[in-house]
Amino acid sequence: MKNIKILMYAITALLAIAIVGCSGSKTQMAVENGSSNGASPSLKEYVVATDASYAPFESLTEKNEFVGFDIDIVKAIADKGGFKVRLVNTPWEGMFATLTNGDRDILISAITITEERSKEMDFSEPYFEAKQSIAAGKDSPVIKFEDLKGKKVGVHTGTTGDIVVTDLLGKDSKDVIRFENTPLALKELENGGVEAVVADNGVVNNYVNNNSDKGLMTVEDESFDKEFYGLVVKKGNKELVDMINEGLKKIKADGTYDEIYKKHFGE
Ligand code: ARG
Repeated sequence: MKNIKILMYAITALLAIAIVGCSGSKTQMAVENGSSNGASPSLKEYVVATDASYAPFESLTEKNEFVGFDIDIVKAIADKGGFKVRLVNTPWEGMFATLTNGDRDILISAITITEERSKEMDFSEPYFEAKQSIAAGKDSPVIKFEDLKGKKVGVHTGTTGDIVVTDLLGKDSKDVIRFENTPLALKELENGGVEAVVADNGVVNNYVNNNSDKGLMTVEDESFDKEFYGLVVKKGNKELVDMINEGLKKIKADGTYDEIYKKHFGE
C-alpha cells in the first residue's frame, strides 16, 4: 500500500515537471520567433509563410534565421496588432495554396497586389511600392524593356516579372526561361544561359550591388507599372486582415515603419 502511495507521488511529481517543461519551451518558441509580444500567452499565434529567397525582403542567414524588410514589418505589425506570428519558409510555388488548405494564415513575400490575385485571396492595405527592373550584363546592348525582344530572359515562375516578360515576348515564346526562384535566374544570367532577368527592382538592385564582381548592371524602364506589396490572407478572413491593417496603420503612425524602411533601404 505504502509503495503504491510513493509511486503515485512520484508520478504526480513527474507530470508536474513535464507540464512546467512544456510551457517553458512554448515561451521559448515565441521569443525565438522574435515577436516582442511573445511573453503574453493569451495572444493568438498565426502561421506566416514567406519565400526566403528574396533579399532584401526575406532571406535566411547562415544560422537559418529570417531577415529582411518583410520580416521586420510582419513582426512589427503583429506586435502592434495584438497577435503573435510564427514564420515558416515556404516556396513561392504553391504558397498561395497554403492559405486555402489552412497550412498558413498569412503570406508576406514581396507579393504584388494584382486584380487577378485579389479574386482568389484578400490583401492588406499596401505596405511597399515597387516596380520591375532588368538585370543584364554590363556590356549588354539592352537599354530598355523592348530590347528584350528576341533575347532569352530569365524570370521567377508566376511572379509579376514572369507576367510582364510573357506579355512582351508572347505566351508561347521559348525565350521566357522560368526559374523556381529569382536567385537561380540571376545565377543563370551570370553563367550566360539567359541574357537578362526581370524581377522586382529592390531585389535586382540588391543583387547587382552586392555582386559587383559579376559584371551585371540594372536597367530601369519607364514603361513598367507601379506595383504595391500587400500581406495576404485567405479570401474572406476579414477578422485577420483587419488586425493586420490595424497593426500596419499603427506602425506607420508611430515611426516604426520608417525605422524599418531606413534600416533596409537607407534614407
Ligand atoms: N512582387 C512579385 C510578385 O508578386 C515577386 C514576389 C516574389 N517574392 C518572393 N519572396 N519570392 O509576383
